[in-house]
Amino acid sequence: MNSFKVTGGNRIDGSIKLQGAKNSALPILAATLLIKNKSVIHNCPDLSDVDAALKILVKLGCVCVRDENTVIVDSTDAFNYEVGKELAGEMRSSIVFLGAIIARMGKAVISSPGGCELGPRPIDMHLSALKQLGVIIKEEDGVTSCNCPNGLVGGEIYLRFPSVGATENIIIAACLARGKTVIHGAASEPEISDLADFLNRAGARIKGAGSNTVIIEGVPCLKSVEHTVMSDRIVAATFLSAAAVTGGSIEITDCPAYNMQSILDFFEKIGCYMKIKNNRVYMKCPSEFKASGVTVTDVYPAFPTDAGPLIVATFSRLPGENSLLETIFENRFRYVPELNKLGADICQNGKTVTSKGKKKLFGADVNCTDLRGGAALVIAALNAEGESVVNDIYHIERGYQSFALNLKKLGVDIEEL
Ligand code: EPZ
Repeated sequence: MNSFKVTGGNRIDGSIKLQGAKNSALPILAATLLIKNKSVIHNCPDLSDVDAALKILVKLGCVCVRDENTVIVDSTDAFNYEVGKELAGEMRSSIVFLGAIIARMGKAVISSPGGCELGPRPIDMHLSALKQLGVIIKEEDGVTSCNCPNGLVGGEIYLRFPSVGATENIIIAACLARGKTVIHGAASEPEISDLADFLNRAGARIKGAGSNTVIIEGVPCLKSVEHTVMSDRIVAATFLSAAAVTGGSIEITDCPAYNMQSILDFFEKIGCYMKIKNNRVYMKCPSEFKASGVTVTDVYPAFPTDAGPLIVATFSRLPGENSLLETIFENRFRYVPELNKLGADICQNGKTVTSKGKKKLFGADVNCTDLRGGAALVIAALNAEGESVVNDIYHIERGYQSFALNLKKLGVDIEEL
């Protein structure tokens, strides 16, 4: 297992171009199955989760070619409808293939998804929605078998919670269903709008993506399409946190400021100067930060759960009381004990973690527990005196393209062991 060696103390001052969004690229790659032709996806980030998605597509009979950040998927001859444990277990979003495989093949067999240890990752909303579209589902020993002998039929879906993945699965499945599907209580994250843009460009008829009510009129087929994936707002939050924790400055280009207001608000609240022009965000840290108080994660457009660990990593730099209340996942604090090995002195009380006053951090040997928690450890290590070793960085490689290289370009002393 690889590690990063980080020597803290350097200030970040530099500019970085943002990568494509993992959580947009993954459902879009799944949706290419609906198109019996070529799909050209630009700005597709080079990540292990994307590699896992491409492996699934190849297993299903697609031809996938990657040229740097452009991926071409030819799904003309897709024939398979099974995703086995080894592939489905590699990442959480394997579940988003379910709707696409059923819509294309009329049936699907998928093993339970893997992904981050953020608590139980149930798929009840995915399955109950697909049943309402006419899918017969059997779950046995972690394998979900789906059948839809008469084809998918549109219907009224009510989500008890605006699940991002369930919303994506239903949109994808409903594109080729007979009749109209309405999703009430849909998730409104920007990545869902990007998925809908991709599908509409291929001839789908989706309205209301990005709101809580999405309407999909089924069409008989979709055509070849070219699409550029939106930029990754969580990776942007990661680099803003890295700059903040070093007291430096950073310019992020290709940055979707319009869909990350809650993240920008956090950095302004702690005293950072922000300048936003078109898709360019420039942030400069104050000589003295302010306390952030309590930050609560919630569904879009509130502060995103994925950026929670990234701001907790900045608390050691902030005066006063700083807390994060996590409302989306059951257990998203497994990185906190690792942060405390660096001297962060963060305490957890149920769904809230709190840090009181600035802390002097010292380099230590720490272990990544999940994707964003891992990135948080690297961020905190930038502000720790001496050398830190961050282990199990395969978690980080799931969602960050050339993470160490980009940090090095920004002036950080980091190397991969
Ligand atoms: C997506 O996960 C993202 N992953 C996550 O990003 C992100 O944290 C999450 O949305 C919330 O924004 C991808 O897009 C690949 P949910 P997803 O369904 O779809 C519960 C990252 O770091 N739930 O909105 O799995 C679930 O357990 C990752 O990039 C059910 O109970 O999120 C969770 O508590 C981490 N039943 C809550 O809903 C279901 O059927 C939100 O889950 C589905 C979900």
